[in-house]
Amino acid sequence: MTKSKPFVWINNKILPWEDAHVPILSHGLSRGSAIFEVFGTHKGELGTSAFRMDMHLKRLAQTARLLGMELKFSTEEIADATAKIAAFNKSGRGIIKILAYWGEEAIVDLVLTSKLDVAIFTVPASENLGLDQMKPISVCFSKWRKLHPETVPVQAKACANYLNGYLIRKDAMDRGFDLGVSIGTDGFVAEGSIESLFIVKDGILKTPPLGPILESITRDTILHLAKDDGIPVEETKLQKEDLYEADELFTSHTGIKISPARQFEEKVLQAPGPVTARICKLMEDVLTFQDKRYMHWFQNLH
Ligand SMILES: Cc1ncc(COP(=O)(O)O)c(C=O)c1O
Repeated sequence: MTKSKPFVWINNKILPWEDAHVPILSHGLSRGSAIFEVFGTHKGELGTSAFRMDMHLKRLAQTARLLGMELKFSTEEIADATAKIAAFNKSGRGIIKILAYWGEEAIVDLVLTSKLDVAIFTVPASENLGLDQMKPISVCFSKWRKLHPETVPVQAKACANYLNGYLIRKDAMDRGFDLGVSIGTDGFVAEGSIESLFIVKDGILKTPPLGPILESITRDTILHLAKDDGIPVEETKLQKEDLYEADELFTSHTGIKISPARQFEEKVLQAPGPVTARICKLMEDVLTFQDKRYMHWFQNLH
């Protein structure tokens, strides 16, 4: 028997997954104007909690602001709705994806003034999602540059920005690699398609500074964990050569958290190397509620 899909919260209604539709000519689809957030849910003794949902919802509001859009619901209302649909679906380990979009048809209109619809999906962990799998990966440079921050706000988690991410990943996959890293138009290393990038050189953890890259919440988490553990950290511009000369390299994002690179371009790397392994352990202790110092990073849902 196939398991039925979770219900979806849309604009204050709870609907079956199959009924969560928008018209094909909606602005969100035909202009690619939707915005979104994704964050993890974790099951502990106290039930199901979201990891750093407050930061993710803050970023959703910031995305809307950066694009001159307005949501139909406040951050507090979206937080309440998230808890409601998570409880309704009895969600456990998995992810929550929130989409905000102009669901109305817009055949020629480009700039709409209506407020964005909001849909909240709870997606249970599955083999396909790959959560909790610290799988070593192969990484290469992409021929595609990272979007320049003066063409679109790169701090916005806007669906349209992911055409850039798609091309970066596709180029890497066409060359037989798992994922690609983009270079900014300034010539410095930027990030992956949907991942932040870290390297380790002589025991120092290094990552590109904010500005031309997304303000990743996992990146922020890793920097906190590393600093608190006494690992030297540098947020610094990286040249292409820094990646070729790195002792360790890993990527990170909300879903899989940390993916150690076993290969960068032609170079074979230890995966995970000692610093990456330490950070993976620190992250695992947080996400399994063993490290009590970071309990404030969780928001209980049900
Ligand atoms: C371009 C880009 N960089 C980094 C990340 C990682 O961000 P987070 O840790 O908040 O998932 C993402 C996530 O989707 C992304 O799209």
